[in-house]
Amino acid sequence: MNQQPAVLSVKHLQKVFFPGTVNERHVLKDVSLTIEPGDFVAVIGNNGAGKSTLLNTIAGTLPADAGQLTLAGHDVTRKSVAYRAKWLSRVFQDPKLGTAGELSVSQNLTLAQRHTGSMSLRRYRQASQDATYRELLKSLNMGLEDRLTTQVKYLSGGQRQALSLLMATLSQPDLLLLDEHTAALDPQTSRQVMALTQTIVETHQLTTMMITHKMSDALAYGNRLVMVQDGQIKLDVRGAAKANLQQDKLMALFAE
Ligand SMILES: Nc1ncnc2c1ncn2[C@@H]1O[C@H](COP(=O)(O)OP(=O)(O)OP(=O)(O)O)[C@@H](O)[C@H]1O
Ligand SMILES: [Mg+2]
Repeated sequence: MNQQPAVLSVKHLQKVFFPGTVNERHVLKDVSLTIEPGDFVAVIGNNGAGKSTLLNTIAGTLPADAGQLTLAGHDVTRKSVAYRAKWLSRVFQDPKLGTAGELSVSQNLTLAQRHTGSMSLRRYRQASQDATYRELLKSLNMGLEDRLTTQVKYLSGGQRQALSLLMATLSQPDLLLLDEHTAALDPQTSRQVMALTQTIVETHQLTTMMITHKMSDALAYGNRLVMVQDGQIKLDVRGAAKANLQQDKLMALFAE
């Protein structure tokens, strides 16, 4: 059988902060989760439920205290952030985290491109590279195609987040991790960046985990919805079951 391995497999994951002290806190309690190729998972849950901790342990910025993590069939449980970056890209809530403010738009793209194995981009020399960048930026629909030489710190939050998203996905990662990546944007820009996310995910068929507090986005986007509550997975629905979910049912689950 030639079955593709899961993009991510999390088994019996545990994370405890301040163990052995009065502040001991079990933030991930025996979490198991398998993400299949092409899954677009909306992750929801109350403040402090453990969503970001889950993403941090997947990315390796926090070590797991127990359990096993595999990425594309490789055991990465004890591997560094850099090692895992082969398979992962992340976009955070703060648009400043995904880009270098002092560098220009094109310098940022060059940096992102260096981290990719994307031959289609590497082939280009400077002149045609600018044309390629312009083309890529145009697809964002944020007016960035004419601002290649602008320092990124002068962009708006929405423009900067769209650029972060582009940079994170240039490498066509096996798994894209989005941690409330539209939360700091105004409603209209947030909608725009969400639509852009959908387009990029669909175009490249990216497997994606997206944390959001916006119930409407969690219901509208993705084929799967996971609710984290008090360090455990309370709900995991996909396909028709997700499509049939309604906001009031979801809110009722939150309250349980
Ligand atoms: N590095 C850390 N050191 C100590 N405690 C932490 C650390 N990171 C998170 N925590 C604690 O773990 C719990 C879960 O935090 P986490 O950030 O995972 O929640 P979340 O579900 O992402 O919440 P939010 O929706 O507010 O972003 C919280 O009580 C938090 O204070
Ligand atoms: Mg969080």
